[in-house]
Amino acid sequence: MASRKTLPTRALGRNGPLVPRLGLGLMGTTGIYGAPRTNDETFELLDAAFERGEIFWDTADKYGNSEDVLGAWFAANPEKRKDVFLATKFGFTDMVGGKIQVDTTPEYAQAALEKSLKRLGLPFVDLYYVHRLDKVTPIEKTMKALVELKDAGKVKHIGLSECSAETLRRACAVHPVACVQIEYSLSCMEIEWPKWKLLETARELGVAIVAYSPLGNGLVTSRIRSREDVSKPGDRRGNLPWLREDNIKTNLSILDRVGEIAKAKNATSAQLCLAWLLAQGDDIFPIPGSSKISRLDENLGSLLIRLSSEEEKELRQLGQSFLVERFQNMTGFAFGDTPALEE
Ligand SMILES: NC(=O)c1ccc[n+]([C@@H]2O[C@H](COP(=O)([O-])OP(=O)(O)OC[C@H]3O[C@@H](n4cnc5c(N)ncnc54)[C@H](OP(=O)(O)O)[C@@H]3O)[C@@H](O)[C@H]2O)c1
Repeated sequence: MASRKTLPTRALGRNGPLVPRLGLGLMGTTGIYGAPRTNDETFELLDAAFERGEIFWDTADKYGNSEDVLGAWFAANPEKRKDVFLATKFGFTDMVGGKIQVDTTPEYAQAALEKSLKRLGLPFVDLYYVHRLDKVTPIEKTMKALVELKDAGKVKHIGLSECSAETLRRACAVHPVACVQIEYSLSCMEIEWPKWKLLETARELGVAIVAYSPLGNGLVTSRIRSREDVSKPGDRRGNLPWLREDNIKTNLSILDRVGEIAKAKNATSAQLCLAWLLAQGDDIFPIPGSSKISRLDENLGSLLIRLSSEEEKELRQLGQSFLVERFQNMTGFAFGDTPALEE
């Protein structure tokens, strides 16, 4: 057995597998927030994460060469594979005319998984997500295909990402869904909104929430203070609404107060914001993305922070005052629904 530390774990969904409360998002290693990490740098990050017991890894077939790099890491560390809980996703196909394309047909699900397994050099993944819903394929058909992949031993657990409450309910009627991966952070609480009822429905159905962009793409860390801070070639955050001239002053003043609360607890803003998410329930699993070992360590520090109910409430109020807009709301694929199944 490879030696490593362990982190606190919880079940990922009702009767689900035990996974660390905090996962590691690997999208940022592939260049979405600036230059991609070299393969050696990503190897070092994966080594460090493994040693620290941070073994809930999140990738996708559309995260650049992430699956290839993971495949090389598993090939170099075959004895460690069994200790990693690896999630990948499918659904996005190639852009057409600058527009996002999604395919969640059974055929595509099967073909995409085969390609992912080949890149990863593995016979199965622990968690396979539908990354986005194509709005054409009834969820029952996609789920049936995923259950077949599970029965074939190629997928251990099934997840959905960016689905509506109703789609989740229909999916669960076919087969248990371990988790929904969705944006959730101090600056984005839409899953709680009565309009979506996603958090409430997931709880009713025993489905965990994997909180993506739990640091608001970096916003709530307070380390981004202006558009210039995200102006490196390849960083796509420059046009996000929270950095707009008319929003930034308000957002910075909220961040300053978050920073004061963090300082009083001897923590950083990033740690405090992750601790706030963790405090929302044992069924919430944030997956902060970092390409740096120092930040991996910093983020793991959030597991040691306890918030009083006053602190939790004040942070919630501050979070609700951010002037932000979800990027996903602009794509047309947020909280996705699928057509009814015609028998
Ligand atoms: N299902 C989906 O559709 C979906 C969508 C988006 C993301 N995701 C998943 O969620 C993961 C996380 O989301 P995300 O990367 O969008 O956003 P995030 O985790 O909210 O923020 C990542 C950004 O914060 C920085 N950062 C991380 N820790 C920090 C710290 N302690 N202090 C200061 N800055 C810090 C990172 O920079 P450095 O790299 O420089 O540390 C990176 O720029 C992704 O990697 C991906 O696996 C899924």
